[in-house]
Amino acid sequence: MNVYDSNRMADVLTPLGYAPAEAPDGADMVILNTCHIRDRAAEKVFSELGRLRVLKQAREAEGGRMIIAVAGCVAQAEGAEIVARAPYVDIVLGPQTYHRLPEMVARASRAAGAVIETDFPAEDKFDHLPEASALSGPTAFLTIQEGCDKFCSFCVVPYTRGAEQSRPQAAVIAEARRLVALGAREITLLGQNVNAWHGEGPAGPSTLGRLVRALADIPDLARIRYTTSHPRDMDDDLIAAHRDVPQLMPFLHLPVQSGSDRILAAMNRRHTAADYVALIDRLRAARPDIALSSDFIVGHPGETDADFDATMTLVRNVGFAQAFSFKYSARPGTPAAAAPGQVPEAEKDRRLQELQALLREQQAAFNADCVGRIVDVLFTGAGRRPGQISGRTPWLQPVHPIGPDSLIGQIARVKITAANPNSLNATLLTQPLEQERTQA
Ligand code: 5AD
Ligand code: SF4
Repeated sequence: MNVYDSNRMADVLTPLGYAPAEAPDGADMVILNTCHIRDRAAEKVFSELGRLRVLKQAREAEGGRMIIAVAGCVAQAEGAEIVARAPYVDIVLGPQTYHRLPEMVARASRAAGAVIETDFPAEDKFDHLPEASALSGPTAFLTIQEGCDKFCSFCVVPYTRGAEQSRPQAAVIAEARRLVALGAREITLLGQNVNAWHGEGPAGPSTLGRLVRALADIPDLARIRYTTSHPRDMDDDLIAAHRDVPQLMPFLHLPVQSGSDRILAAMNRRHTAADYVALIDRLRAARPDIALSSDFIVGHPGETDADFDATMTLVRNVGFAQAFSFKYSARPGTPAAAAPGQVPEAEKDRRLQELQALLREQQAAFNADCVGRIVDVLFTGAGRRPGQISGRTPWLQPVHPIGPDSLIGQIARVKITAANPNSLNATLLTQPLEQERTQA
């Protein structure tokens, strides 16, 4: 989502004469677009700001000016702290105020002292952002939903991104059509809780399943993905879309966080391990080749060895094609930060290693299973070595066969010849296909 947001900020600044620079040295403005979900996010921002301060001073010594802006969720959460600790910052803006950036730049140019905008404004930023003007390749992101009302015990998102909000269906479809006209062949719908999307449709609030079906009518849009979802919001209609819509890729990132019902309750996830497994069964019944990805947290306050074992059992039962796993770390202001039963660091390390070993094994098995198969790949750019082109399978695995640049932006068939931990080797089989076909 930050990549999408950064592109929107670039779009909104283009009319003012700004264009992206290769590096911060000598730039007229530097925007740090920050994420608050990772551990020590704020500290990383302050150390980056320290480096930028040197560049800003160098530019001032030459008689120039460099505006430094901090955007994103660290700005939202720690705006006052940022201007106190780094007074050379000119602009602090939260994720809901990007559309006001031109006005803030004008104010920062006039004013001494920082311009801070971290409200949740009444107007909708999406109504005030310009249309995308260029793409960096045939895959594009499209934010359809922001914010979260779920309040998982460990998570800062509901505090930084605010309440859940859905863009109207017509606005989403119009943006998707523009992206496709600019050359997008794949669109990934984004939202902190993307499957809770309930944007206004032709007949009242719509659902993600219906939106996917509507998007599938756009000619030349070959692939549709969405991320990130919550298990509670996987409704029948969306599961059916996985069965019915060939453009909807057979890959789903569906965070479960833990396999222990006790910890899931402590996390306020509002589902059990059995609910999750049953959901996966229904998804696999609808789309047998669907591959699963997830997020896991080990060492949430109160997690015992038995709870951790339940997570390992769930992983064995489901079988993931890939996953992200983290040691719990306290986020100030979240309920879990103050909860009893904090798990010692060494224990979290041990659990994380054990979990990651299993997840790596599953990923390797999933990749090995692809060897010998014939797969459609969307080619997105040049490969690392001369003559190679790089693309992704329907299951998001990178492949880099030898092939002509003319295939970039197209879907072509490859044969998988070998599996690596994070990618597949493949040889090109055919000329571009008109329409991606469903995998066997
Ligand atoms: N500690 C560890 N991991 C976290 N995540 C979110 N908050 C925390 C935290 N406090 C992880 C969750 C989430 C992913 C984006 O980041 O697994 O799904
Ligand atoms: Fe955070 Fe996701 Fe839980 Fe919302 S559903 S609070 S974004 S982990």
